[in-house]
Order: sequence, then C-alpha cells, then structure tokens
Amino acid sequence: MTVKYKSIRFTPGFACRDEVLGVVNDYLSRQPEPRPFVERDLAGCVFHFHTLDLRLLRRDIETLGERVPVSSSESREAGAILRVIYDEVSKIGSYGVRAGRRQYVDFDVERKVRNRKDKERNRSKYYYARDNDFSPVAHPLPPELTDQIICGDSLEVLKRFPPNSIDLILTSPPYNFGLEYDRQDDAHRWERYFERLFAIFDECIRVLKYGGRIAVNIQPLFSDYIPSHHIISNFFIGRKMIWKGEILWEKNNYNCKYTAWGSWKSPSSPYLKYTWEFIEVFAKGSLKKSGSPENADITADEFKKWVVAKWNIAPERNMKKYGHPAMFPEELAVRVIKLFSFVGDVVLDPFNGAGTTTAVARKLGRRFVGIDVSQEYCDTARERGWSAWHDKVIGLESPLERLSKTTDEKATSP
Ligand SMILES: C[S@@+](CC[C@H](N)C(=O)[O-])C[C@H]1O[C@@H](n2cnc3c(N)ncnc32)[C@H](O)[C@@H]1O
Repeated sequence: MTVKYKSIRFTPGFACRDEVLGVVNDYLSRQPEPRPFVERDLAGCVFHFHTLDLRLLRRDIETLGERVPVSSSESREAGAILRVIYDEVSKIGSYGVRAGRRQYVDFDVERKVRNRKDKERNRSKYYYARDNDFSPVAHPLPPELTDQIICGDSLEVLKRFPPNSIDLILTSPPYNFGLEYDRQDDAHRWERYFERLFAIFDECIRVLKYGGRIAVNIQPLFSDYIPSHHIISNFFIGRKMIWKGEILWEKNNYNCKYTAWGSWKSPSSPYLKYTWEFIEVFAKGSLKKSGSPENADITADEFKKWVVAKWNIAPERNMKKYGHPAMFPEELAVRVIKLFSFVGDVVLDPFNGAGTTTAVARKLGRRFVGIDVSQEYCDTARERGWSAWHDKVIGLESPLERLSKTTDEKATSP
C-alpha cells in the first residue's frame, strides 16, 4: 500500500548537500512509521512526513552535537535543517494526536461523512430560524447614541435606537439572585423577571443588524431549579434567532465545592454544584457577519484557542474597587468582542453595570453604547472607559462633559 505524505518545501540558506541530508535522514529514521524523510529538489529541500514525535525531534536537535562532533559543518547544517523542519511543522494547526504523536495525514478520515452537504440539506440546518422576516437593511446609529454610557431603563432607552444599527450585543442581565444592586431589586417572581427581561431582549433583537450577534452571559440559579440558560435560549430560538453556540466559562470557583450537599451521602436529593457559567450566542438572520478582513484583529493563536468553547477565566477581582457586585472579567469581554466583531463595529451592553463591555470595546477600537439603570454604575463606566483609552483617542469628550448630557431616566428593572 502506498503511504500518503504531507510535504513542505523549504530553503535552508545553503545548498542541501547529500552528506548533510544523510545525517538528517539518519535522525528522522528514529521517528515513528511511516518514516519521514528529506530530499533535494530544484528549489531547495522537501520534507515528507506523515506522523511525527515532536518531542523526540526537539530532543534530537538539542543533543545533536553530542552524537555528531559539533565542529563538523555537516552536523551544523543538519541541525539547521532539523530546526527549520521543527519550526515549519509547529506552525501547522490541523493534525490528529495518537499516543502523543501528531498525525498530519488522514487524521480525520474516521470523522468523514459521505455526501455531507446533501445530508445537511436534507436535515435543514437551524430550521427553527428559517422563515424569519428580519430585514437585511442596516441603519446608522445616530452620533448622540454612539460612544455613550446612557443612564436609564433599557426597555425605554432602546426604543430610541433605530432598527438594525448594532453589530454585537454582549451582556449579562441581573440573575435574580437577590444581589444588592444600587438601583434595582434582584429577587422578583421568576415569571415577572423573565417577562421584563424578554421585553428588553425583544428590543435587542430589533436593534441588532442582520448578521449581528448577541452573547448573553448567564448563571442559572441552581438552588431554585431554574435553568435560565435554557429558558433564555428557548426565547431566542422562538424569535427565530440562530443559535451560534454556547461557551462554558469555567471560573474554577472551588469554594462551592465545600458547601450545600443536599442530601449528604444519600441519593434521596443530592445537590449538583457548578464552577462555571454560560455564554449563549445567537445570530440574527445569518451566521455570517459582513466586515472587511483588515478589520479582523484576532490573532491566529487567539482564534485557535478561543473557538474551543470552554474558557478558563478567573472571576473579576476588582468588584470592590468598582463598587459593583456582579461584574464579568475584562478577559471575557476581550474574547467575545474579538471573536464576534470587527474593529469599528458598534458594541452594545444593555446591562452595562460598571462598564466592562464598554471599556473593553473602546480599548479594542469598537464604537460602543452602554445602558444601566444606576447613575452610580454609569459614572464608574464612564470614568473607566475614559481612563482605559483616553490617550489613544483624539477628539472625544471627557466623561464629565458627557455627564451633563446624559438623561437620568427614572427606571424600573426586570
Ligand atoms: C450582572 S450586572 C452587569 C455587570 C457588568 N457586566 C459588569 O461587568 O460590570 C447587571 C446590571 O444590570 C443593571 N440593570 C438591571 N435592570 C436594568 C434595566 N432595566 N435597564 C438597564 N440596566 C439594568 C443593574 O443595575 C446591573 O448593573
């Protein structure tokens, strides 16, 4: 049976002499079957490989001088070639891992489904969102609403926004846990809580652009047996939004391990505990968002790491400093904003709190708008966003100038 190889062509910066390639191939013969090898071609060298033990390759590079005398030019050139090979294969992002070795050829054969496209068509992807009547026509956000922190009830404030004017909404609503917020009671009957919340989410859907995304950070109240992340997701699905995915935010909050067992050591009613929260992501009308590639600021490494939807991020440590009881950390906002929006997009947080979303959006060169019922949190958000970026932005008003313009609406909360 012929072995399939993957090949990389490279020029080491010197002629590939047969004696040197001999030393390199000698080292490569220690690699797993089917053995990789190098050969010369007209342009330089070609490396053919199938499965590699990269740790062995690195060790061979490090100990090369011990086996072949360092003084020999063959050994130096062989070492240089092995290093180029190592650097080039390390850049390859798609491979399978078997017994600690990387397999670069046919590693996904088992997962291949024949006639995948036909089967997908037959199943009808996101059927629940198909017959929506979302308009693809975008509207600009007026300047008086752009780069603003607005104090008021989102239900009222959002009515002033034109439809289809926001690219990304990132938010975490009050969880109804009974937290001590500045302006809002956080322990309503669940039916009333969801009714008020969904009225605000309806406005959010209206103001999102076609292809825009909403990412909602949710912590269910497990002790009330209310699966808020499912109830909220069900709401968006019912509104014909496409479920783009769910991110599991692992906070590694092991404090919870030591409290509340339910029925201790008995199956009668054990209490399940969680060290994580959820981020449910929905798209309006299309999974694809328009934007020019030069406005994508996520790096290859960030992209590879963040599309794996389990994020290990420690909880926010500065809640006391900002005077807010339920903030998410900046790192979470950085990831959501870079993964789901382009530089220059408009990012909205209708429950902006101490302004994590807006401060990060500003730092990352997005336009932003944050809304919160509490004047105190809005002041913090303004101050925070301003100090985060004021030296990079020319021509922005100071928070104090803005303060005089804001509407301080009497508000009720969900
Ligand atoms: C979980 S906190 C958000 C914290 C924010 N993510 C941060 O990192 O600072 C929820 C926020 O929603 C605000 N809020 C509650 N009801 C509101 C409403 N109807 N309109 C606007 N804001 C509201 C609360 O004042 C609170 O600051």
